[in-house]
Amino acid sequence: MNIDWSNLSFSYLDTDYNVRCYYRNGKWGELEVSSSNQINIHMAATALHYGQEAFEGLKAYRGKDDKIRIFRVEENARRMLSSSKGIMMAEVPEALFVEAVKKAVSLNKRFVPPYESGASLYIRPLLIGTGPKVGVQPADEYLFLVFVTPVGPYFKEGFKLTSVAVMREYDRAAPRGTGNIKVGGNYAAGLRAGMLAKEKGYSAVLYLDSREKKYIDECGPANFFGIKDNTYITPESRSILPSITNKSLVQLAKDMGLKTEIRPIPFDEVDTFEEVGQCGTAAVISPVGRIDDLDNNKSYSFSKDGEPGPVTKKLYHKLRALQYGDEPDPYGWVTILE
Ligand code: PLP
Ligand code: COI
Repeated sequence: MNIDWSNLSFSYLDTDYNVRCYYRNGKWGELEVSSSNQINIHMAATALHYGQEAFEGLKAYRGKDDKIRIFRVEENARRMLSSSKGIMMAEVPEALFVEAVKKAVSLNKRFVPPYESGASLYIRPLLIGTGPKVGVQPADEYLFLVFVTPVGPYFKEGFKLTSVAVMREYDRAAPRGTGNIKVGGNYAAGLRAGMLAKEKGYSAVLYLDSREKKYIDECGPANFFGIKDNTYITPESRSILPSITNKSLVQLAKDMGLKTEIRPIPFDEVDTFEEVGQCGTAAVISPVGRIDDLDNNKSYSFSKDGEPGPVTKKLYHKLRALQYGDEPDPYGWVTILE
């Protein structure tokens, strides 16, 4: 195997195996192991026509001790349950989800990047409606699968400052839509704005709430946080994805003696932040150096020296230390693979 671990980007690489489980006749079957990267589904499958599709994203890390750690897998299992309920799909029991994830990682241990590389194994659970329907209805059959792929940083900059763009023309999710669950349609809805932002040199779009364009929602692939007055502040909103990374950072911020606030954040408040970041499994923490409000030709800067701020740095190192097993795991967030 000839993988340049330290220079991996966030892209797909084939691994040895994936695991699959089919829901038919009202019940889940046995977990199956496959070495194919193809799936064979009915052309009238609801996933293809009506977007009955949800996914998850989590990571496994190889520690200095060579052990493989999976971060907060139970949280992803619960979020997939919530996505299934949201778009009327068969529910993957938490135990099945966790078993499938562990198995997929276990069967592909040789693809978990070495500790020194800073890369990790991205785990992608996927749930799709496979049963045929022409009328708009939930499918009767589903496929749950988990594949893995070794990845480097989501934003090519890694832990460096990037800029994000506010473009009020585009919404990611409706106020009471599906923004709070992890369904493919949200990402399709964000593609045009996301690509436009990339073309202009931004790492992501910073979405404001769709109803009033008054409050900060989140970035395309990650949650938003701001730091000021020794406080970690992150949006409360019905239309953002409840990020497991963000939830972890709230805890770590408290442990570090910061105050934490989860509340609506008016966009007008951005100029008061000392530090700003995006956070998520793929993005980890991506410090934001500048927010450009493209509609009003205004820029907000969050760094004087071109470096991430001290609180962001501290949070980043603390989170990484837990994920890679450099530090003890007081909250039981990590599952060590046998
Ligand atoms: N927000 C969106 C829209 C995402 O796609 C993700 C990625 O999963 C996140 C936030 C971060 O969530 P998490 O930290 O659970 O990966
Ligand atoms: C993740 O962070 O795991 C995600 O699913 C974000 C995705 C857009 C790559």
